[in-house]
Amino acid sequence: MTMATFLVRADTLVVTWADTTSTSFPTIWLRDNCPSGLHPQTHERLLDLLALDVSPVLSSAQLDGGNVVLRYEDGHTSHMPVALLSAHRPGHPTADAGAILPQLWRAEMTAAVVPRHSATAILADAPSLKAWMQDTAKFGVSIVDHLDDRTSAGMEVAQRIGFLRETNFGSTFEVINKPDPNNLAYTSVALPLHTDLPNQEVPPGYQFLHCLANEATGGGSLFADGFAMAEDLRNEDPEAFRLLCDVPVPFRFHDGTADIRVHEPVITLDRSGRVVEIRFNAHLAGIFDMPSEIMPDYYRAYRAYMAKTRDPEYRLTLKLKGGEMVVFDNRRVLHGRDSFDPSTGYRHLHGCYVDRGEFTSRLRLLARDANPSKAA
Ligand code: OGA
Ligand code: ZN
Repeated sequence: MTMATFLVRADTLVVTWADTTSTSFPTIWLRDNCPSGLHPQTHERLLDLLALDVSPVLSSAQLDGGNVVLRYEDGHTSHMPVALLSAHRPGHPTADAGAILPQLWRAEMTAAVVPRHSATAILADAPSLKAWMQDTAKFGVSIVDHLDDRTSAGMEVAQRIGFLRETNFGSTFEVINKPDPNNLAYTSVALPLHTDLPNQEVPPGYQFLHCLANEATGGGSLFADGFAMAEDLRNEDPEAFRLLCDVPVPFRFHDGTADIRVHEPVITLDRSGRVVEIRFNAHLAGIFDMPSEIMPDYYRAYRAYMAKTRDPEYRLTLKLKGGEMVVFDNRRVLHGRDSFDPSTGYRHLHGCYVDRGEFTSRLRLLARDANPSKAA
């Protein structure tokens, strides 16, 4: 956006933009963000904020091509790009290609309409990778098909995004019916809707479940948008919603080699009140330890959310086929499966995780490649 006029005050530069809106930039902010304070290669800040006066004085401002030349009373001069001022207006969030607004879904999300993308295309070109990632971020779930019939094929698609998240189950994990399981997923029993590893300080972000074989009777997959269920609860029963946001509950996983625990609420909001995370896993919930006075109300709230996880109104069901991989935001979309009968056929999923930070970083890099002038 181009700058129309500006007004210089000792403690503020007031810019009026071509669209007649105006922005106040405090002088201390202008000095803190002077491009001369950055390392020329890394663009990291070298400036020592404490070396500045707490109230530096702005003396003059002059437009010079794409820069505003700012002079200060202590003799310092800044060449401040207008583009930087336009992109970083105090009080307004900076545009972010990694921030994709969730589009909530309920039962209208069916196997026929869930976003589908081809592994061949994702592996071959950046626009296909980006289109898949944008769909996955928006809906919290997608299917990748045409995967090779190799155990590592799903992981290779996940690594197009970034580093895998290693957990106590390894960098990748085999979901098969095992003789000595340390996790219900490694049996043939039904798994009600849940998020994985809510017992971790930061639960894994995106989850990838590559289906190598699904020939047993049963073993269908189910999903539900945890954000949609939370928003509906917020409308229907605000007090229950508040308890699920405010009261931390224990989550715990333990076996012979690990005992990993946290106390966190079921619903996490950001500072603006938007739902940003769901932790829900009936198997890994520890023994509730909130004060007994609030326990009955808490149980009512917890059961209200749990009832939604059983309500077909929210459910997406599908049966994965060999060569397909389901990908979902494990901190938003709950997943589960029907029980299966291992005597009727083989079922084998290969799983891994990539954290949200890796995911949003890749989205920003893909946006930067498509539009190099927006690199900053
Ligand atoms: C898991 C899981 C689902 C399935 O491994 O965490 O939930 O379909 N698996 O087996
Ligand atoms: Zn799971």
